[in-house]
Amino acid sequence: MLSDLFRNNVDWAESIKRRDPEFFLKLSRQQAPEYLWIGCADSRVPANEIVGLLPGELFVHRNVANIVLQTDINCLSVLQYAVDVLQIRHIIVCGHYGCGGVKAAMQEEIIGLLDNWLHSVSRLYLRNRPRIDELATEAERVDALCELNVIEQVANVCHTSIVRRAWKRGQPLSVHGWIYGIGDGLLRDLEVSASCIEQAPPLPGE
Ligand code: CO
Repeated sequence: MLSDLFRNNVDWAESIKRRDPEFFLKLSRQQAPEYLWIGCADSRVPANEIVGLLPGELFVHRNVANIVLQTDINCLSVLQYAVDVLQIRHIIVCGHYGCGGVKAAMQEEIIGLLDNWLHSVSRLYLRNRPRIDELATEAERVDALCELNVIEQVANVCHTSIVRRAWKRGQPLSVHGWIYGIGDGLLRDLEVSASCIEQAPPLPGE
């Protein structure tokens, strides 16, 4: 019931104010998060909760399959605001195992508009198909592509003019690729972090 959501909201606000009566007042004056989270829209991957951060500590962009496209003005606007204005220190691209978007990108079945959105993931699958298809189960194949997708999106973030310019002017900024296990609630670092363009994973075709 929707009324439950409002009741939950009052309880939540009260519980935060019990710990820190000034919490919302302080937040309303400024936000100074150190992290930008680029994650999947999946309801099972709630960004702040997974990493135990409060409102004000994580700047968040989510879409289906945590994709970063150089033509996506929405994602790029978030990225630019986070890097240039908020001066965040870390960009975390976080995928998750069992991602429905990634799974859809592997199938030939036509869904609709979502197929267009997932086009770059389908291409990523086609480029890596020989080694992915060797895996025994569909779940393993999906999970392998979920990992490759995170790495590709880290590369895409690193190669945006926004991040390149920040690195060029010496702004401290790192980009990381993580993956979350819906089945165990745990994050894994895919160890593709980059703090300068030389450390960035290559773009497809490079
Ligand atoms: Co997903």
